[in-house]
Formats: sequence, C-alpha cells, structure tokens
Amino acid sequence: MNKEGDLNLRPTNRGNLAFLQGFLRYPEQVASFIPSSRFLERRIVDCACIRQAGLVVELGPGTGGTSQAMLNAMGPQARLLSIEITPEFVEVLSRHPDPRMTAHLGSAEHVCDILKQYRLGPPDVVVSGIPFSTMPTATGEQIIRSVWDCLPPGGIFVAYQVRDRVVQLGRKLLGEPELIERELLNVPPMRFYRWRKPEA
Ligand SMILES: C[S@@+](CC[C@H](N)C(=O)[O-])C[C@H]1O[C@@H](n2cnc3c(N)ncnc32)[C@H](O)[C@@H]1O
Repeated sequence: MNKEGDLNLRPTNRGNLAFLQGFLRYPEQVASFIPSSRFLERRIVDCACIRQAGLVVELGPGTGGTSQAMLNAMGPQARLLSIEITPEFVEVLSRHPDPRMTAHLGSAEHVCDILKQYRLGPPDVVVSGIPFSTMPTATGEQIIRSVWDCLPPGGIFVAYQVRDRVVQLGRKLLGEPELIERELLNVPPMRFYRWRKPEA
C-alpha cells in the first residue's frame, strides 16, 4: 500500500495494453485508445459525490482505472458494481482483489436486472463512461431509461463523454443536467454531465 492508502491497483502497463487491444478489436464500443487520466478520475470522484455513496454502479469501467479511483474514495462498507460489455476487460477486472467491487460482464441496458441478480438495492450513484455517440440511438435511449429506473429519488447520474450525445438522448426523460463541466487534462478532453432524480 502506498502512503495515500492506494492499493496500487491502477492500470499497469499490462492493463493499458489490454485497453489498447480492446480498442483495436472493438473501436466503436471502447471509443478510446487509452484509459482516462488521473485528472479525469479525480473529477469523477468529485462530480459524482463518490465519498458519500454506499452503492455505486459504474457503466463501462474498461480495465478498471476509474473503478480504482472510486474505490480509493469509497468507505469500507461501500460497494461498487462495475458493468462492462467487453469480455477481455472483465477478465482483467475480475482479478481485482478488492471485495467491495463486483465486475459483471453485460450491457448497461440491463442495469436494473443486474442489480437484482446481485440482490443489491437502488444505487446512490450511477457513473457512465460508455460512448453514447457511437451506439445506436435505441440502445442509448434504453440505457438512459434503465439508469433512471434504477435510481431512487435523490440518486445521481454522472456521464462523461467527448460529445453531448447523452444530453440529447436523455433530454426528454432526464431534463437538463444540474452540472456541466469539462476536463481538459485528458486525451481526449471530456465533458461531464450530472443529473439528480427529483425527490417527489
Ligand atoms: C471510453 S471507455 C471508458 C473506460 C474507463 N471507464 C475509463 O474512463 O478509462 C468506454 C467503456 O465502455 C464500455 N462499454 C461500451 N458499451 C457498453 C455497454 N453497452 N455496457 C457496458 N459497457 C459498455 C467499453 O467496453 C469500454 O470499456
């Protein structure tokens, strides 16, 4: 363990290589050739209020850099359910030794069923790194609907994206985001959007 309490499970060169191989194999699905930067990881933790969350769902964890950043900020009793569609990435994720994390091979469209499968209640936060701009419109809309259905009142949805496709797809159901930010210290620069499900 290093002095920040970080278990040093960040993507190693092997994790980065697996990520690049995943991109070369499924370019539209992975949509980036390197994992997110540390700056972007920090912004996810802050924007999504990860420190206060008891249950976090991550959509599209890749090889787990963003998952590790969230785990570092989460409490000892908190849980992270990471849903990833690329089998090679789930293989990497499933070797992660932190018992707070569950890596599930599947699509974000089925987030409600996947939560039930693990007997988990409604999450406090859903964080999405999946590329809405390269997937069919119907799939993107279905994912947004499922995320909104599984969140309790007051629950948070954060999506980081290169473009604003998730805002366009979600406008009718989610309304306008309560927060919009940009992280320039990432390749490529990312937009951040946050919605909160109304209490009533
Ligand atoms: C841009 S990468 C983000 C990886 C990581 N979160 C990061 O920021 O470094 C997008 C990830 O979303 C995954 N993905 C794409 N469509 C998905 C879906 N429908 N359900 C779950 N994961 C998906 C890809 O396999 C890939 O791992």
